[in-house]
Amino acid sequence: MRIILLGAPGAGKGTQAQFLMNTFNIPQISTGDMLRAAIKAGTDLGKQAKEVMDAGKLVSDDIMIGLVQERIAQEDCANGFLLDGFPRTIPQADAMQEAGIEIDYVLEFDVPDDVIVERMAGRRVHPGSGRVYHVTYNPPKEEGKDDETGDDLIVREDDKEATVRHRLGVYHEQTEPLVSYYRKLAEQNVVRYHKLDGTRDVDVISKELKSLLS
Ligand code: AP5
Ligand code: ZN
Repeated sequence: MRIILLGAPGAGKGTQAQFLMNTFNIPQISTGDMLRAAIKAGTDLGKQAKEVMDAGKLVSDDIMIGLVQERIAQEDCANGFLLDGFPRTIPQADAMQEAGIEIDYVLEFDVPDDVIVERMAGRRVHPGSGRVYHVTYNPPKEEGKDDETGDDLIVREDDKEATVRHRLGVYHEQTEPLVSYYRKLAEQNVVRYHKLDGTRDVDVISKELKSLLS
């Protein structure tokens, strides 16, 4: 199963990716997590990406396309993958089409901007695994600690309100055009497209995804 999760920053892509990965046993390819890992490791890519990400802008298409194509070519993606945060621009989507990378499902998470700003303020993440929590809506068992490892949770650099608002602007301008891009492909039966109401509880959305994909 090859899936694209499409939605604004904070729409819940990472949260549901964790659920889908565990339920259907397919790897999550989170381009945001990959970039954050590169920053932490201090690689050239990380050095290039840090400033761009902290400002809430997009890393260049060339870099992102290369990164994802390399990842998809790995053995664990042979039976499917879950793209979380890619494609994010029309050129990125075109590059996938041109490379002949087929997609079964495009799942759009619909959440209004104001709800997103509130969500981001309470987000906590486990940098090692990419697991995501929210202080109110999806709290860890022990405050400030990852459920599985007990490691400290952190606040992402780009979750400051001004940066979140900037990221939302970038989403509407550069990523939202992918909605009609993939709807058109769905009309031609190239992909299946589903729009989900992302404002509901995490569990309710997970259940809907499970029945949709089973
Ligand atoms: P990335 O890490 O992909 O960030 P994003 O797309 O902005 O998405 P987020 O991770 O912020 O949100 P999410 O949808 O995963 O929501 P989450 O589940 O965490 O990218 C970061 C940066 O990297 C970009 O800005 C860019 O610079 C660069 N980048 C990455 N990919 C790129 C690309 N392809 N091209 C160019 N640049 C790229 O949930 C958010 C919060 O809400 C959490 O606290 C969660 O617990 C809570 N929550 C989730 N679901 C619910 C619910 N149903 N109800 C209540 N709370 C919920
Ligand atoms: Zn995410």
